[in-house]
Amino acid sequence: MLIDGHGREVNYLRVSVTERCNFRCHYCMPEKPFSWNPKENLLSFDELFKFIKVAIDEGVNKVRITGGEPLLREDLDKFIELIHNYKPDIDLAITTNAFLLANSAKRLKSAGLKRLNISLDSLKPAVAAQIAQKNVLSNVLEGIEKALEVGLNVKINMVPLKGINDGEILDILEFCRQRDITVRYIEYMENSHASSDIQGMHGREILEVIKQKYTIKKVGRQKSSPSFNYEIQENGYIFGLIDPHKHDFCEDCNRIRLTAEGHLIPCLYFDEAQSIAEAVKEDNIDKAADILKDVLANKPKENRWSEEDSEGSSRAFYETGG
Ligand code: 5AD
Ligand code: SF4
Repeated sequence: MLIDGHGREVNYLRVSVTERCNFRCHYCMPEKPFSWNPKENLLSFDELFKFIKVAIDEGVNKVRITGGEPLLREDLDKFIELIHNYKPDIDLAITTNAFLLANSAKRLKSAGLKRLNISLDSLKPAVAAQIAQKNVLSNVLEGIEKALEVGLNVKINMVPLKGINDGEILDILEFCRQRDITVRYIEYMENSHASSDIQGMHGREILEVIKQKYTIKKVGRQKSSPSFNYEIQENGYIFGLIDPHKHDFCEDCNRIRLTAEGHLIPCLYFDEAQSIAEAVKEDNIDKAADILKDVLANKPKENRWSEEDSEGSSRAFYETGG
């Protein structure tokens, strides 16, 4: 079992396999970064897998593949298969924009993938294109339907933005309710890479919109989840709200992050990281395990987003997978 310096059990590893993305969402990567990390710095799937095995042996039982856009990385299904075959009961998930999903859903499912979180900010083609700066909606919707068809468990992420998609909060809710999938509304997290003219909605404003149609009841947070859940009285549907400005979920935070270059990051909101790249390239498993334990010993107690004037970390979400 992995225990961090504040006594929290850490069993959840998020692995970003690429910082690259085929969308340019205003809240994340509105412009192509001035420079990508050079490709030669990227760890191979075999190298990433070496570290994942160490983490699993030490007690990680949930792995999420993120990006950038993870489906951009070739042979992702083979990587998923490596992890799945190593320990089939690992809770194996991916976060994707679904643009390339229709063609890969079946392969991902066969490889052992269990769950997908998909970004869906609008059901209107023009609005989706405005946010992602690309004509994306038909591919995304096709990807979602295909994932459901092959039996993958799907959750939807929506980031409501004032004056852009704030009129679609209920539409997205109904879309998800009809398909029996969960939607989670995410408060926009300010970051220096995002477009400067966008404005997110507060959690309470999002709830106000839903309350105009429905009566909602607090359900609460599942252990170690940042999402606070609500139930709609009229039909029993449960949706989530993620407010990253709070830090009440930090006290049972169970996660660490690994980037595509091998940086092990204890908390999304801090710049501190250590690299496991050398250890896996040297095949030095003990060294990788030591770095893992050292990073955990120094995992911060809570994020700093609630502090006034805090800009959090300067690291982009597309590097760390949000
Ligand atoms: N604020 C809130 N959510 C974000 N995401 C990316 N950037 C931000 C941000 N600045 C979330 C989106 C997407 C997931 C990959 O990360 O919800 O679904
Ligand atoms: Fe790409 Fe996801 Fe960032 Fe949008 S939010 S730019 S889809 S990584």
